[in-house]
Amino acid sequence: MKALVTGGAGFLGSHLCDRLIADGSDVLCVDNLYTGSLDNVRQLLGGTGFNFLNHDVTSPLDAEVERIFNLACPASPIHYQRNPIETTRTCVHGAINMLDLATRQRARILQASTSEVYGDPDIHPQSEDYWGRVNPIGPRSCYDEGKRCAETLFFDYHRQLRLRIKVARIFNTYGPRMHPNDGRVVSNFIVQALRGQPITLFGDGSQTRSFCYVDDLINGLVSLMDTPDDFTGPVNLGNPVEFTIRELATEVIALTGSSSRIECKPLPDDDPRQRKPDIALARRCLDWEPTVQLRDGLAKTIAYFDSLLGQGAEARP
Ligand SMILES: NC(=O)c1ccc[n+]([C@@H]2O[C@H](COP(=O)([O-])OP(=O)(O)OC[C@H]3O[C@@H](n4cnc5c(N)ncnc54)[C@H](O)[C@@H]3O)[C@@H](O)[C@H]2O)c1
Repeated sequence: MKALVTGGAGFLGSHLCDRLIADGSDVLCVDNLYTGSLDNVRQLLGGTGFNFLNHDVTSPLDAEVERIFNLACPASPIHYQRNPIETTRTCVHGAINMLDLATRQRARILQASTSEVYGDPDIHPQSEDYWGRVNPIGPRSCYDEGKRCAETLFFDYHRQLRLRIKVARIFNTYGPRMHPNDGRVVSNFIVQALRGQPITLFGDGSQTRSFCYVDDLINGLVSLMDTPDDFTGPVNLGNPVEFTIRELATEVIALTGSSSRIECKPLPDDDPRQRKPDIALARRCLDWEPTVQLRDGLAKTIAYFDSLLGQGAEARP
């Protein structure tokens, strides 16, 4: 089975490439290295069945493939707001180019969508039939609306051209190979703790988040791709177990043995109080749920950042 992974040199994409190669697939990893790095796929380069192509998905692509995992897109606010026009272009033109390729190849195609399609939700937890509350003109809209438009395109190709599609709505995921400077809470806390800097909590830290370890998420994506043709999703993939941000900070300090203290800063305007997936559909249709405990996932992530910081990771933009 030949698989194409766009965004394959990124955090999630590189773990997906590892998994597909381990399962015996041939993998074409396509990435323009905007936020990804060849270091993430170094272990696969030159190996059997793995090819890397430096390509921007906003340009059309031809390749012989049977499955396409469309992950290309900067995912953290710092990165997707750096060039918002390009973010929307990647979401929308990238989706069109990959959907056209899937149509020509009669391939299955999976979209890495996001919990951000729910915007600032007024129901908790969010299930897939909730249509969301998204600001179409704010600084996050390039990503939120770009991803919503990509979902629209996926379902129109499915209805109009009978393309076999799968849409995953991914919630907060963490693990080794996260970008050290992406401003996300898990990487932020770990990097601050390892450097002995104060850990910055926004607000009083009582807001809750749920964190899915990358191995669990990759299991979900692979299971989704393998579902029967009549299952399209969208399906939420994430961890429904909630932690307060203060609990996360305390756990990181304990696991790193850091002397960092917690420092509180004012809560930004757009910071949601709570973000939590309803994963009943994934449990029922994919027989999937996260299994990795936060403490175990954090320990592996800390080990990764510890080694990365030792190699001077600050140089990566
Ligand atoms: N990590 C999460 O918690 C999370 C949550 C929800 C959704 N997602 C989605 O999963 C996907 C992967 O996220 P990630 O966390 O691995 O982010 P990431 O930034 O590490 O990976 C994205 C990859 O896409 C590449 N890329 C960006 N624009 C491109 C373009 N125009 N052409 C080719 N490659 C391009 C980047 O270089 C990078 O390697 C994204 O689509 C993201 O929206 C991730």
